[in-house]
Amino acid sequence: MRVLVLHGPNLNLLGEREPEVYGTQTLAELDAAIAAGAKELGIEVRCEQHNAEGAIVAALHAARTAYGGVVINPGAYAHYSYAIADAIAAIAIPVVEVHLSNIAAREPFRRNSVTAAACRGVVSGLGFTGYLLALRALAGMVA
Ligand code: DQA
Repeated sequence: MRVLVLHGPNLNLLGEREPEVYGTQTLAELDAAIAAGAKELGIEVRCEQHNAEGAIVAALHAARTAYGGVVINPGAYAHYSYAIADAIAAIAIPVVEVHLSNIAAREPFRRNSVTAAACRGVVSGLGFTGYLLALRALAGMVA
C-alpha cells in the first residue's frame, strides 16, 4: 500500500514556529517518524509540504491514481478551504485529516474544519502520534 502525507502551509517551519503550540521538533523529524511508522506497517510513504492551496489541490488530484490513501494536515486551510474540501471529496481514495494541536481547544476560528467533513476521519491534538495513528487507520481501511 502506498500513502501520501500532505503537510499544509507553515508546517515547513515546524520546530521554530510557535514551539509552545507545535513543539520543538522539525518537519524533517516528523517525516522521519512517519517513515519509521510506515515501515513497521509495511506501508510505502511519501511526504510532501505545500504552502499554496492550489498545490495541495493538485497533489490530491494526482494522488487518486498513484496512492491507496492520503494523510493530510491542511494547516489553516482546514478552517476555510472549500477548494481542498472539494478535492478530497472528488477523489475515491480514503483521506484522514491530522492536526498536531487540539483544534477544538483553540481560538474559535480554529474549532471548525471544513475539510474534515470530506475526510474519513480526523486525529487532532496528539502531535506526531496523530500521523502514526492516521497511517494505521488507512492500513486498516485499504487492507
Ligand atoms: C494545525 C492547526 C491549524 O489551525 C493551524 O493553522 C496550523 C496547524 C495543527 O496541526 O495543529 O497550521 O493544522
